[in-house]
Amino acid sequence: MGNRRLDRQGRGTHYADRMHRILGVCGDCGLLWHTERIAFKNGATEFQRVDDIEADGSVLVTPQYEKYGLRVNPRLLPKLKTMGPQFAYALNVPSTSVEVDGDLVYVRVPRAQGASSSPLLFESAWAIDPHIPRGSLLLGVDEDQHQLVLELTAPTNVHAAVIGMTGSGKSTLMRTMILSAQRIGGAQVALFDPSGGMFPLSGHPSVWRGGLFRSAHECELGLGALADSLGRRANTLLYVFVDEVPELIAQRPPIRTHLARLAQAGRHSGVHLVLGAQHLMASQVGPMTLRNIPVRLVGRVTDRTAAYNASGRNDVAAEQLRGNGDFIAVGSGTQRHFQVAVIADETLAEWAQRYPPRQPRLPVRPDAPRRAVTPVDPGSFVSATTYRSAGGGGGSGRHLDEIPPSVLHEIRAYVGAHGREPSCNWVYNLTHATLPTGGFNRDKARRAIAQALERHAAGSAGTRSERA
Ligand SMILES: Nc1ncnc2c1ncn2[C@@H]1O[C@H](COP(=O)(O)OP(=O)(O)O)[C@@H](O)[C@H]1O
Ligand SMILES: [Mg+2]
Repeated sequence: MGNRRLDRQGRGTHYADRMHRILGVCGDCGLLWHTERIAFKNGATEFQRVDDIEADGSVLVTPQYEKYGLRVNPRLLPKLKTMGPQFAYALNVPSTSVEVDGDLVYVRVPRAQGASSSPLLFESAWAIDPHIPRGSLLLGVDEDQHQLVLELTAPTNVHAAVIGMTGSGKSTLMRTMILSAQRIGGAQVALFDPSGGMFPLSGHPSVWRGGLFRSAHECELGLGALADSLGRRANTLLYVFVDEVPELIAQRPPIRTHLARLAQAGRHSGVHLVLGAQHLMASQVGPMTLRNIPVRLVGRVTDRTAAYNASGRNDVAAEQLRGNGDFIAVGSGTQRHFQVAVIADETLAEWAQRYPPRQPRLPVRPDAPRRAVTPVDPGSFVSATTYRSAGGGGGSGRHLDEIPPSVLHEIRAYVGAHGREPSCNWVYNLTHATLPTGGFNRDKARRAIAQALERHAAGSAGTRSERA
C-alpha cells in the first residue's frame, strides 16, 4: 500500500467545537489531568499538574464518520472505553464509540446520514495509487484514507467472503473488485450472479466463458466445470466471483459441492473465490468451506450473532456498521475498517458499451447423462460435500489414509478428458495443491488412481441401489 492518501481532514469550527465538547466530558469526569508531587534534592516539594488526555491535532473524516483523536494516559483507557454514551449525549448524536488504535484513542462519531455528500468513487480510490500489483484487488480506502487493496494471492488469504445484510453494499464491493481485476490485467474472472449486479462488467475479454452466469442452473453448470478443471488448469490466475451464494445453493444444492471443491483448492491452483452472502453459515455452505475462507469483508449485519458468524470473531461490531459501503476487512489476526469504493454509473455504462455483455458459453457436463437422471436429493449432498477432515467433529471423520472424494473425482475427470490414467506425478501435484495434508506419494497415488477407476465402474450402480 502506498503512502499517498485522500486528503480528508476536518478543520473548522464544527470539528473544533466537537473536540471541545469531548474534552469537556473528560473534564467533567475529572480525567483531564492529575497532580503529582515532585520532590527535589534539596528537600523541597512542589505540586505539578500532569495532563492525562490531550487532543491530537486534526480530526479524521471518512465518508461515514468523524474521528476525534486523543492522546491518553493508558491508566484511563478502561474508563474511557465505557464513555461512548456520554460523548454521544454531549455531541447530540445517536451513538459514538471509543476505540484504541496504537497509542491514540479515537472517539468515532457517525456523520449525519446524507452528510457524506459524495460517495467514494472507484476512480478516486484507484488514483491514490494506480499501480496495484497483479494478485491484488481494490476494495476502497481505510480510515486513514489510504488505498486499501486485498492481496488475494497471499498465502494467508486465498479466498474471501463478502457478507452483509441487503443494502450493505456487497454487490457494489464485488463490482469494484471485478473492475479492478480487469484494469490490473493478467487474470481471468468468472462471474456468477443471480441478482445481475455484475452484468455491466461481464463483456470484458477477461471474463471466463465470455459472459455472466446468471440462473442457478447456469451457475451449477459453470461452477461444476470450474471444479472439474482444478488440477488440469495451467497455472493461471482466476478469480471466481459468486454473489447470493446461499440462494444459489438453496436452488441447486450441487453448487455447495462445487464451491467446497473450489474452496479446498489452495493458492497453488491459482483459483481464488470471492463469495457474496447475507449470512455465511456452516449449515449452508459446509463447515470445511467456511474454514477455507480466511478473509471476511463484512458490511452491516443485523445483530451481534450475525457479526460473529460473518467474521468468525467476537470483537467485530459489524452490527454497528452503517451500511452503504461501510465495511470491516477481517483477516488472519487483523481487522480494518474501510469504505467501499463505488463505480460511477457512467463508468459502468462506458465499460458495458466498450465490452458489450453477452451470454456465457455454457459448459457441457462430461457426466451429464448420468447426473441428469439423478433426482436432486439435498440429504445426499450434505454427506457428499463435506470432505470430513480427521477430527472434524461429528465422529464420522475421514480416516487419514482414505482418498478424499475430490481427488477421486479429479482423477476421473482426467481420465474422461484424456482417455488415459494420470501419472503419479500428476496426482502428487493435484493433492499437493488442493489438500491441507499435502501431496500423495507414489504408492498412495497408485491407490487413488485404482480406487477412482474401480469406483467409477461400480459407482453409478451403487448410487442407484442406494436410491432404490
Ligand atoms: N460504497 C458505497 N458508497 C455509497 N453508497 C453505497 C455503497 N455501496 C452501496 N451503496 C448504496 O447501497 C445500495 C445497495 O448496495 P448493494 O451493493 O446493492 O448492496 P447489497 O448487494 O449488499 O444488497 C446501493 O444502491 C447504494 O445506494
Ligand atoms: Mg446484492
